[in-house]
Amino acid sequence: KSLKTYNTFGIDAKAKHFTSVNSLAELTSTLASNEYPEKFILGGGSNMLLTKDIDALVIHVNLKGIEIISEDENYAIVKAYAGENWHKFVLWCLEHNLGGVENLSLIPGNIGTAPIQNIGAYGVELKDVFESCEVMEIATQHTKTFNKQDCKFGYRESIFKQDAKGKYIITSVNLKLTKKEHKLNTGYGAIISQLEDMKVSHPTIQDISKAVIAIRQSKLPDPKEIGNSGSFFKNPVISSDHFNKLQANFPEIPSYTVSDKLVKVPAGWLIEKAGFKGKTFGDYGVHKKQALVLVNYGNAKGSDILKLAKLIQHTIKRIFNIDIETEVNII
Ligand code: EPU
Repeated sequence: KSLKTYNTFGIDAKAKHFTSVNSLAELTSTLASNEYPEKFILGGGSNMLLTKDIDALVIHVNLKGIEIISEDENYAIVKAYAGENWHKFVLWCLEHNLGGVENLSLIPGNIGTAPIQNIGAYGVELKDVFESCEVMEIATQHTKTFNKQDCKFGYRESIFKQDAKGKYIITSVNLKLTKKEHKLNTGYGAIISQLEDMKVSHPTIQDISKAVIAIRQSKLPDPKEIGNSGSFFKNPVISSDHFNKLQANFPEIPSYTVSDKLVKVPAGWLIEKAGFKGKTFGDYGVHKKQALVLVNYGNAKGSDILKLAKLIQHTIKRIFNIDIETEVNII
């Protein structure tokens, strides 16, 4: 079966076997079966680059459902099953006037994979609203709950990319959202100017969502039109000494302070400065409006995009002496 419509990069890799599971019982029996010993778990397919066919049983996690499982005067705990589309979930929260995820509007992918890389945008990360998630251990089919501390969240990081990698399937996620006193995150410059353009002076969570959607649409390609996985690389963190040396050569280099000794640099700037922004190589290339996003214009192979990624990494290393890591999982 072709996985082209199951990954936002739109790569035409094949799965040797494929099944979509719609309930926990189906997931349990599929994992317990030894008919196909090799298994590959697929969520929203929005953070991976397929560079080869998958010689395994691909299990598409299609568990659905969103419900409020507990609430008090101020907060609601909302449980969403792994196969729910992230942005549809955000819209559901906005309809119910539940606050906390509005800055994360329009992020591609599903609820179940959001904790793995601790999705984040415009000053908010999933961890800020995360309460817990339920997982199924692949080897035993036992279920288990991970609370926020267990998940060891960091910048685009969690235990699911480290010690727990490949061991569990996240089946549902519980988020703690505000019911009335919403904490608005409007600190991000782009949001402030977008709200000004929208002539909104007292923004609601719905306004913030609209602003974020407008910003994202203005620079990030829609995977339905141009295949991509959002930011392909993480923004690197370097020492202040290293940063000061770079600043001597590139006075305009942007940065965010991480600590006394550490500085984060936008990888998009490094890639643009290295001359890659908007470059196309046949069917693939670097997005015209955001250099951090690699794109598939049609029938690119995953291995071609990986080659481009490596060329970018080597060039950034040569010019700036910085190692940039991929954010996207390379399969
Ligand atoms: N920049 C350039 N040229 C570019 C792109 C960026 O010079 O082509 C510089 C500019 O100075 C700009 C700065 O980089 O001000 C930051 O750019 P932007 O606001 O677009 O954010 P980013 O650091 O490139 C990160 C996340 C995005 C998230 C935005 C907004 C990572 C790896 N990416 O991108 O997340 O939407 O911030 O918060 O941290 C994703 O993870 O897939 C993703 C899209």
